[in-house]
Amino acid sequence: MRHAAVLVDEVIEMLRLEEGMHIIDCTLGDAGHAEKILESIGETGKYLGIDVDPEAIVRAKHFLHTYRTQTLFARDNFVHIKKIVKGTGFSPVNGILLDLGWSTPQFEERGRGFSFLQSDEPLDMRFGSDVANSSSDVPSKTAADILHTHSADQLAQIFADYGEEKWSKEIAQDIVLCREKKAIATVEDLVEIILQVYRRILKTDKDVPWIGGLHPATKVFQALRITVNNELHVLEKTLPDAIDVLAPKGRLAVITFHSLEDRIVKHYFKSQTKKNIHIITKKPIMCSKEEYDRNPRARSAKLRVIEKI
Ligand SMILES: C[S@@+](CC[C@H](N)C(=O)[O-])C[C@H]1O[C@@H](n2cnc3c(N)ncnc32)[C@H](O)[C@@H]1O
Repeated sequence: MRHAAVLVDEVIEMLRLEEGMHIIDCTLGDAGHAEKILESIGETGKYLGIDVDPEAIVRAKHFLHTYRTQTLFARDNFVHIKKIVKGTGFSPVNGILLDLGWSTPQFEERGRGFSFLQSDEPLDMRFGSDVANSSSDVPSKTAADILHTHSADQLAQIFADYGEEKWSKEIAQDIVLCREKKAIATVEDLVEIILQVYRRILKTDKDVPWIGGLHPATKVFQALRITVNNELHVLEKTLPDAIDVLAPKGRLAVITFHSLEDRIVKHYFKSQTKKNIHIITKKPIMCSKEEYDRNPRARSAKLRVIEKI
């Protein structure tokens, strides 16, 4: 299934796209934003799409085939944006988009264990499996590696910090006990441990004790994905570099999907106000009810935009 891009009209409007502009899309994904960007910048515009996932590049090239003379692609981590711009000679940069997180095919079809519903998948969770995921050039560990190498305290910290998981300590302790007997290799292995903890604490024999519409595994899976891909550190490092490569009056648009990311973007933008940027969105832009009805994933999307002075 193709990914449904979020806040597309809002991104196009906020980037103030014009004929002939040069735009970098740091999160190419399934090229939904890319298509609209390319429509807006016309035949003289240029587009550079970055994605760490090799399959995203292949799919996007297919979707953007008609624009092949205007498009460039880099299979890389966007944390390397400066190096990518230098290497491709892509200049001037009039706009940059970061649409964070995963795409629908990654989540549902690529067998990387992002979704707690895909029981048989291995616990990988890397966006791009054989390329550096972090700001260092060392390929990062998989989620299974983390579950097997971190102490109970370290795991509890990850689940609390990146998932705001209430039972982080209990889940971490059970993981450490279980891994001594049997490898935690698949989504099902981990989900079963989390469910056991919830059932024990809530004194229920329900198969899945949902809490406030959330599956008990939701937060731990988010926390592991953030850790595996070093997502928060990568974002912190990328924001100043993205602003650096922008031409004067160029705009940077960032779409986040959870409060940890949004906080980083909000605080960084605030800290740079009047130094080298203007904040365009005093409050983040959220989706319309119509978009929410069409695409429930848009519910948590927040768009923040700045302009370089
Ligand atoms: C939400 S999707 C983007 C969807 C896209 N805007 C569209 O319209 O289809 C996020 C994409 O960013 C990629 N990604 C996430 N973190 C990345 C990083 N640090 N460097 C490069 N690509 C990354 C993922 O592989 C995924 O394809």
